[in-house]
Amino acid sequence: MSDKLLHYGMVGGALDSMIGEAHRNAILLDGRAELVCGCFSRDLEKTLKTGKKWGIKEGRLYKDYLEMAEEESRRYDKIDFVVIATPNSSHYEIAKAFLERGINVVCDKPLTTTVREAEELKEIADKNNLLLCVTYSYAGYPVISRARDIVRSGKIGEVRFVNVQYVQGWLARDIEKENKQAAWRLDPSQSGPANTTADIGSHVENMVSVLVEKEIDTLCARLDTFGKSRQLEDTSTVMINFKDGAKGLLLMSQIAVGENNNFTVSIYGTTATLKWAFTEPNKLRILYEDYTEEIVQKEVATPGTNVGFKNTYSVFISDLIAKRNGEQITNDNAHFQSVNAGLRGMRFIEKCVESAKNGSTWVKF
Ligand SMILES: NC(=O)c1ccc[n+]([C@@H]2O[C@H](COP(=O)([O-])OP(=O)(O)OC[C@H]3O[C@@H](n4cnc5c(N)ncnc54)[C@H](O)[C@@H]3O)[C@@H](O)[C@H]2O)c1
Repeated sequence: MSDKLLHYGMVGGALDSMIGEAHRNAILLDGRAELVCGCFSRDLEKTLKTGKKWGIKEGRLYKDYLEMAEEESRRYDKIDFVVIATPNSSHYEIAKAFLERGINVVCDKPLTTTVREAEELKEIADKNNLLLCVTYSYAGYPVISRARDIVRSGKIGEVRFVNVQYVQGWLARDIEKENKQAAWRLDPSQSGPANTTADIGSHVENMVSVLVEKEIDTLCARLDTFGKSRQLEDTSTVMINFKDGAKGLLLMSQIAVGENNNFTVSIYGTTATLKWAFTEPNKLRILYEDYTEEIVQKEVATPGTNVGFKNTYSVFISDLIAKRNGEQITNDNAHFQSVNAGLRGMRFIEKCVESAKNGSTWVKF
């Protein structure tokens, strides 16, 4: 074993997955934790192949997550945290298995498929004094914390309106028969009650919440399904009323032909507008009444890498180390996006589905 401070394991994220490598590379870039065990797939061959690439000893490659949770929790050198990068419907049972055995959890978004499951994970994590981080990786860009500070400082005045769009084109054609990532996302038994609202809407809700720090009062959602035989939506339009009177409009779509990851945020204050776009993720633009503009740029140490993912882990690992050194870090005061953010995200998804099912009526959040 190396001299890395922390050790972690991973469930899901085999070599042929969409996001597994992004997690591992982000932690590698941070440099303070080492991957020592895993159950990367339900298929043991894939787990062995992924483990071999990442130099994991065969004895710590497991046929299923329960065996991994059981075996790892009994070791004297048990892992400090587990990363969960499986399809949504399995997050709850996997996170629960590790939390109940005393292991901190990092889970990909959306945290679960129901609010009740998310509440239960929070209860278990808090009761066992464990940290549960949700990888809302876009909020991890250092410039996003800067943007939140700018909003807090009053530099753009009072926030009156938030307009966010996150559009992709990869589901424009009905590719779910030949694309496994599309297949599970559009299958309610694996994805939960929503597709687009959960898959990318979860990022949007989190970004809005991090940036403007306002509570939603009511929302009204329309979930559209343009694909011919889909059970879940591929486009989601949501209007929001915040408790303090501010408003918002969110558009999430996966049928926007030619769009890759067009995630754009505009926050309209009484004296200025703040803008962030994933096309230039380390930059903010502040627009003034006289049409002048100020650029706020964050220099990043590793340009060209996924800084949002890397920093998401850096913040979590710093909190975990601080907690190990005796600081009172909990899911309520953590610097990373904790189970609380995951739970709020699940409430957002459930409320959007409820509104849409009731003919796009306004529902209380
Ligand atoms: N944070 C982000 O920006 C981001 C981006 C993409 C995906 N995601 C999330 O990551 C998760 C995975 O998405 P994906 O697109 O990589 O999916 P994927 O289908 O590409 O990969 C899922 C992986 O999980 C494995 N798996 C499934 N069930 C398992 C089980 N019970 N035990 C062990 N391994 C199991 C599969 O073999 C596969 O390797 C989803 O929750 C998704 O919402 C997050």
